[in-house]
Amino acid sequence: MTITTATAFASREEYHHAVDSALAASAAYYGDGSSPLDDATFDLLARRIVAHEAEHPEHLRSDSPTGKVAGGAAPVGDVAHSVPMLSLDNVFDAESLTKWGASVTRRLGAPVAGGFAVEPKLDGAAIAARYRNGRLVQLVTRGDGVHGEDVSHAIGSIVGLPERLDTDLTLELRGEVLMTHEQFERANETRQAHGAKVFSNPRNGTAGTLRAKDRPYTIETTFFAYGVAGVDAEAPGLPGDTHEAVMNLIAAAGVQTTATAGVGMRVHATLEEVQARVEEIAGLRAALPFGIDGAVIKVNDFGEQKTAGVATRHPHWAVAYKLPAVERRTTLVAVEWNVGRTGIIAPRAVLEPVEVDGSIVRYATLHNPAFIQASGMMVGDTVTVWKAGDIIPRIEAPVVDLRTGAETPIVFPDACPKCGGAIDTSGERWECAGGTGGGCGLLASLRYAVGRDQLDIDGLGTTYIEALVDEGSVVDVADLFTLSRDQLVSATRSERRADTLLANIAAARSKPLNRVFCALGIVRTGRTLSRQIARHFGTMDAIRAADADALSAVPKLPGANAPKIAAHIAAMGPVIDKLVAAGVNMTEPGGPAETEVAGEVTELPLSGQVVVVTGGMNGPLAGRNRTEMNELIERAGGVSSGSVSKKTTIVVAGESAGSKLAKARTLGTKVLTEQEFADVLGDHLG
Ligand code: IVH
Repeated sequence: MTITTATAFASREEYHHAVDSALAASAAYYGDGSSPLDDATFDLLARRIVAHEAEHPEHLRSDSPTGKVAGGAAPVGDVAHSVPMLSLDNVFDAESLTKWGASVTRRLGAPVAGGFAVEPKLDGAAIAARYRNGRLVQLVTRGDGVHGEDVSHAIGSIVGLPERLDTDLTLELRGEVLMTHEQFERANETRQAHGAKVFSNPRNGTAGTLRAKDRPYTIETTFFAYGVAGVDAEAPGLPGDTHEAVMNLIAAAGVQTTATAGVGMRVHATLEEVQARVEEIAGLRAALPFGIDGAVIKVNDFGEQKTAGVATRHPHWAVAYKLPAVERRTTLVAVEWNVGRTGIIAPRAVLEPVEVDGSIVRYATLHNPAFIQASGMMVGDTVTVWKAGDIIPRIEAPVVDLRTGAETPIVFPDACPKCGGAIDTSGERWECAGGTGGGCGLLASLRYAVGRDQLDIDGLGTTYIEALVDEGSVVDVADLFTLSRDQLVSATRSERRADTLLANIAAARSKPLNRVFCALGIVRTGRTLSRQIARHFGTMDAIRAADADALSAVPKLPGANAPKIAAHIAAMGPVIDKLVAAGVNMTEPGGPAETEVAGEVTELPLSGQVVVVTGGMNGPLAGRNRTEMNELIERAGGVSSGSVSKKTTIVVAGESAGSKLAKARTLGTKVLTEQEFADVLGDHLG
């Protein structure tokens, strides 16, 4: 972790300039969410202001942001907080953590006896949720810490914050509202569909969403509690003696807490253990389904918290251990257009290289042309680049305030950048009109076809595929099934590898139809739709016989896509014929061809059910990945889905199930263990 030491400014003028910039940045940030400074730059500026004021107290300006919640710029409402909503002091390394520990010991007059609770520092907006007799009655933002805004209109759209507790407690939950990466994705799709500006990052999206009233659409967010206060100004009378106990109690009442936020809450006896845990959390950060900007360390015992006390703006008994920023400002230098597996022409942002969380970022995804248009981005714009989990870095809206006038429009291609042929611009994503027939996207489509969730031909990596294509042995996916041993030896330069591949290719011949169909890379279809189509028709012959109308009857298949899908299936006729001739399986186990024996339709155990699987599978379902689980669900007559909604009827919750399980609980959806689900499947478990 590289932390720049904050030093005082060289002159009073520089100090004034810094205070002005910090104030302007906070005002913009809490105004329309468009701060010209990224978090890391702002943090450093704020720390230099503190350092300067310590060295030159005579320079101190009364409007300095030092020591004020949100730099004094957050919108303040008229709801008084029962107990002030404090901010946290920051540490950035082991040394400053030790210093904080020493200050706590000094205040207690003895080392901390009840341990330190360590939990993730969630990157969203603080909120107070007031419950009376177990009912959620009011939501209030932090505001300036003393007064906040009433945002009760958001009740019902926040996952993890139930409208009723499982007990009749009267208390105020304190916690963070945020958008998971998935919620952010959906939020921007919704905004795009309604012609609204896309959110530049989940934090701004959350703040805007909490405050917005009367939107014609709903945007979902997520809550994690990190504390409890009394609703009335009197002594809160907390239901426990430690932070850990209270968090466990409210979790048992149905609330999502930081203890369930992916990395969990741990209590440690020493600061050495705390430091190790923070490093562990830093390592887990990229894989979390939402953003965290550090860890929060709290003295666990309430008695000790009380003795340690609070300063004006932050408690002495807790501290934030900040991790390096995952968000930086940079410049959009150019936009490249690349042709993907199914001939999709995808835009990619070329960025002025910038370090984000320890690695240099040069590119970011731009999704599709419609996204570029909705974002209003131009070449030369300042953009915020951030890493969401372990996925590709991304940029969203440009920082319009920083435009110089030298920006130029993004140029959209008018011919396929790979083959120079026509582009089909009728859909949201643009495609090479040549499709996957063999030209554009052949390598990518073959790589996809042999993938684990399609034909699963283990060992046939990119290098060998390229060699086979270069030698002219393979011009489409069907050719893989007629490769000779000699051709494979030549491509892999190894007899052993060739034999393994021959065996794996032979095994791929008996894959279910859904995988064979998926391997064709038909436009507008992927794994889920391939399963639906295979299940619906049962055989490749039936699929080929289907026209656009018949395809529209497939669950989840958007009618508007049916003509394109039908046309592509027809165009792939010769390849399908070659697959048949090579002895590749063309039926779906459990499809209509198998269930309607002699006109008798078998009743399936999951008929009419919409099932979501979450967490790792154990027990009778051990080792099954998502694709295999989805195949299982659909063979048993159910519909599988990736996200929990009101339509979901069953959630199968495995090991470490997280936000989907929480959402199921919020919606009151039926939740089954692996064993219970296996019992429902019965013979269909196979
Ligand atoms: S405790 C009196 N715990 O960070 C202590 N805060 O920078 C109050 N935050 O205003 C805060 N995750 O909005 C606490 N696990 C966590 C947190 C957390 C995120 C936010 C919170 C607070 C801000 C301070």
